[in-house]
Amino acid sequence: FNFRLHVIIAYLPFFIKGTLLTIWISLAGVIVGTVLGLMIGLGKMSSNFFIRLPFVWYINFFRGTPLLVQILLIHFGLMPMLMSPVNSTASIIVALALNSAAYIAEIFRAGIQSIDRGQMEAARSLGMTHTQAMRYIILPQAFKRMVPPLGNEFIILLKESSLGAIIAVPELMYWGRAAQAQYFAVWEPYLMAALIYLTLTLSLTHLLNYIERRMKTE
Ligand code: ARG
Repeated sequence: FNFRLHVIIAYLPFFIKGTLLTIWISLAGVIVGTVLGLMIGLGKMSSNFFIRLPFVWYINFFRGTPLLVQILLIHFGLMPMLMSPVNSTASIIVALALNSAAYIAEIFRAGIQSIDRGQMEAARSLGMTHTQAMRYIILPQAFKRMVPPLGNEFIILLKESSLGAIIAVPELMYWGRAAQAQYFAVWEPYLMAALIYLTLTLSLTHLLNYIERRMKTE
C-alpha cells in the first residue's frame, strides 16, 4: 500500500477551488430552494384541491425520483431550452434548488403545523384576522422551528452536489475524479475528497447544534 502524497499536493489548488465551488453551489441551491419551497409549501396547504394538486405532484416527483435522474433531465433537457451553450454549474444549482424545494416545502408545512392550534385561536379571539395571526403569531414561531431542518438541508446539498461531477461541474468531486484519471490513483484523491466533505459536514453540524442551543434559551 503506497500512498502517493504528491498526487494530493499536485491537486491541492484544484481541491481548494473545487471545495469553494461545492460550498457556493450548495448555498445557492438551498437559498433558491428555500424561496421556492416556501411558495410550494404554501400551495400545498391550499384548501382547494385543484390548486393543491400541481404542488403535491411537484413534491412527489422531486422526492420520488433519483436526484441523478433529475440532474440529467435538467442539464440535457430543460437547460438547453433556456440557454446556449448550457453552463453545467447553472444546471447543478437549478437541479439542487428544484430538488431541495420539494423537501423544504414539507419542512415549511411541518413547521407551521407544529405550532399549537391554540396560538391561532388565541390570536383570532384577540381580534386578529387570519392573515394577521399568520404573519405575527404563527410564522415567527414556525420559522424558528425551520432553522435546524434548513441547516440540515444545506448539509445534504453539500454531499449531493458531488453528483455535479457527472455533468462536469468543476466542484470537489470533479477534481477528485480528474486526479484519479491522471495518476491512476484511487485512495489519494478519493480519501482527500472524503476528508474535505467530512470536515465541511461536521463543522456545520457543530455550528447548527450551537445555534439550536442558543435558540432554546428563550
Ligand atoms: N440521494 C437522494 C436521491 O438521489 C437525494 C436526496 C436529496 N435530499 C434532499 N433533502 N434534498 O434521490
